Order: sequence, then structure tokens, then C-alpha cells
Amino acid sequence: MLIKNGYIVSKNRVADLRIENGRISEIGVLQKRGDEQVLNANGLHVFYGFVDAHTHLRDPGLCHKEDIQSGTRAAAAGGYTAVAAMPNTLPPCDDAQAVRYVLEKKGSVPVLPVACITQGMRGQALTDFGALKQAGARALSDDGMPVSDPLLMKQALRYAKEVGLPLLLHEEDLVLKNGGSAHAGEYARAQGIAGIPASAEEVPIARDVILAAEADCPLHICHVSTARSVPIIAWAKQQGVRVTCETAPHYFSLCDEILDRADANTKVNPPLRTRADMEAIRRGIADGVIDMIATDHAPHTPEEKAQEYHKAPFGLIGLETAFSLSLENLVLRGLINHRRLEELLSFAPRRLFGLEDSLQEGACADLTICDTRTSRIYKKQDILSKSKNSPFVGRTLRGCVCLTMVKGEIVYHGSVD
Ligand code: DOR
Ligand code: ZN
Repeated sequence: MLIKNGYIVSKNRVADLRIENGRISEIGVLQKRGDEQVLNANGLHVFYGFVDAHTHLRDPGLCHKEDIQSGTRAAAAGGYTAVAAMPNTLPPCDDAQAVRYVLEKKGSVPVLPVACITQGMRGQALTDFGALKQAGARALSDDGMPVSDPLLMKQALRYAKEVGLPLLLHEEDLVLKNGGSAHAGEYARAQGIAGIPASAEEVPIARDVILAAEADCPLHICHVSTARSVPIIAWAKQQGVRVTCETAPHYFSLCDEILDRADANTKVNPPLRTRADMEAIRRGIADGVIDMIATDHAPHTPEEKAQEYHKAPFGLIGLETAFSLSLENLVLRGLINHRRLEELLSFAPRRLFGLEDSLQEGACADLTICDTRTSRIYKKQDILSKSKNSPFVGRTLRGCVCLTMVKGEIVYHGSVD
């Protein structure tokens, strides 16, 4: 296959790409050979394939919300060439058999299984990290629940380092959270919604970077959402702690001003913060403190989300909107360029999971081809995910994913010629 005239973002030039046997065999000015398929990428941006470090696929056990097929189809449509599947399924992915289940159930894009840090995600006893890695787990997390016990966390940091698996930490102090449903601020108060203070996130982040410094272990912080979390992580980096972190598009696209107790599609954990937090997250991305963008794609049914705000589950879907929201709120605002966007959506998560991380001759042909000039209205009926719980439905989104290729195979084809 020949991809003609795309703007190769990491090379900062227009070039043709030849794809053979699942790899990029040539980059340059290339002529069509024989009956080679030709894709015209004129005017389009060619990124190395996006990887989502944080997806909830709900499979097994919660397949009415999402399953591996529907979730990876949504991922492909969002430009993702691989997704890390969080383990808070039913049962939680805490043993080798559960990891193998995820690997065996094939979807549109590869799934990187994330296994639990603690047995049953109960925060009491560690899982068998070695056995999980051997079964194919690519990371460890109790996402959705914190590891509250600091001694257990320190043991987890050491054990994860020993087996060589990234630890993806959901940072939440449940005591400080105190049963809240939205950011503790004037908008939650006005709506009569119990608040979650910023400290519920910041305190455990500070704790864990200190533990990681003391134990000399790497760690990855999930879904950073507050202004103060950013300098805490920057400080840890300055101290030499091998910490990486992600934020999600909703934290740099929305803030608590949109809270409406009648609409639980804005209920997410950590919660949408203040305008000042949202702006600080944008700056953290621009400054390089925040390493990557992950979706925290969290499907829930309309029935669950129709409940009263405090009863509805936390989470919103994000695979099909992440690129457009990043383009609109980061690139088009002049905070980052397309190369940095590619770092945030592709290269940084690829390094986290040890995947190939440069678009070059010989590299795996994972590509995401986008049109940055178009706009579209995000409609419920266009969503490929089984669940539709997005606060962005009805909005105009900038740019679109035209084509997603995994190992030389087209897994999503939108509007490329
Ligand atoms: O909003 C969230 N939803 N945050 C989490 O940490 C878990 C996730 C879920 O699984 O629904
Ligand atoms: Zn989480």
C-alpha cells in the first residue's frame, strides 16, 4: 500500500509512505508499483498510531456497557491503534486466567491488559505480579479504587519495579472524598451536590511520589485534574523521581461551571474542576509536566446516568472525542503544536508500555491519519461505543480521524479518498 502526500507530523514534511508486511518500508517521494493500493492523504496529517493508556472496556461482566469488540471499534474510530484495558471488570482482572481472557478476545485494535495491583481490587493484598506479567499483563492498576494503605503501596512500587511493569495509579483519598460527587466549589454548592476537594487527589499524589523517591521506583499517575497536582509532579521530576502522568481531555476542555444536577453525564472521577484548574492543566501540558493524554473512557448506561446525581456512577466515554478535543483546546489555542500532540497521544503512551515509538522506515505500520480542517457535530447516533454517556454530545468538534491503521491493516476508514 502507498499513502501519498500526507503531512508526516514527526518529520515536519509532506512525504509518501509505503506499507509492506505490516511495516513502513519506505518514506520519501515514491511511485506506485504494479497493483499497489494507493491512499491519497493530500492535506491530511499523518501521526504515528495513538495509544490510549486508560480505557475501560467493561469486558468481562459488564458487557451491556461495552465489550472488547465495541470498545476497540470506538478506539479505532478515535484513531487509537492500541488501548490499555483497565481491570475493574466483573470479576476484576487479578489473575493469569483473567489476563488471558482479555488477550484471547480479539477486537479491532490490540488490547494491552492492565491487571489489578491488589486481589479483587480490595486494597488489602497484592496480586501475583510475576504471574500476571507472564500471562501478558502490560501494566498494573486498581483504577477506580485507590491503594489507600501506604505500606502496601510501597510494596507494590518495589514489586512492580522488580517485574518491570508500569504501575498506573488512581490517586484518591476516600476519607477526603467523603462521599462527594462533584468538585467542592461554588457550582457544586449551588446545585446542592456534595463536594470532592482537590486535596483528595493531591494528597495521595504527594504521598506516592515521596514513596517512589524513597524506594527508587517508577510510577505513573492517572487522570491528573487539579492545578496543585501539576507542581507536585514537577517537583518529583526535579528530584529525579521517574514519574509520568496523564490527564484526560475533559479536564482541559470542561470545568465545573457546566454542573447541572439533572445531568450526570458530567459526573466523573476525579471530578471536573474549576476554570483555574482547567487552565493549569492546559499549562501543565504545554510546559511538559503532563506527559500524555489518556481518555479514561468509562462507559455507563443511560439508566444509570439518569439517576440522581449522587447515585449515578462516575465516568464518561472519550475514545471518539479525544483527538478533536485535544486539537481544539490545545493546538488551536496555540498552546502546543502538532508534534507535541503526537507526543501526548502516541509516543509518550507507547514508551510507557514499551511499544515502538517512532515513525520511521522499518517501524510497525501503526498510523492515525487526520483532517485538522473540518468540523462535525458529535451526534449520539454516530457513537460506536455501546454507551453514549458524553457531555460533548451535540457539540461541534474540530477535526476528525480519517483512517486508522494497525500493523498495515486498515481498522477504521472515515473520509479519506
Ligand atoms: O470516572 C471514572 N470512571 N473514574 C474512575 O476512576 C473509574 C471509572 C469507571 O470505571 O467508571
Ligand atoms: Zn481512575
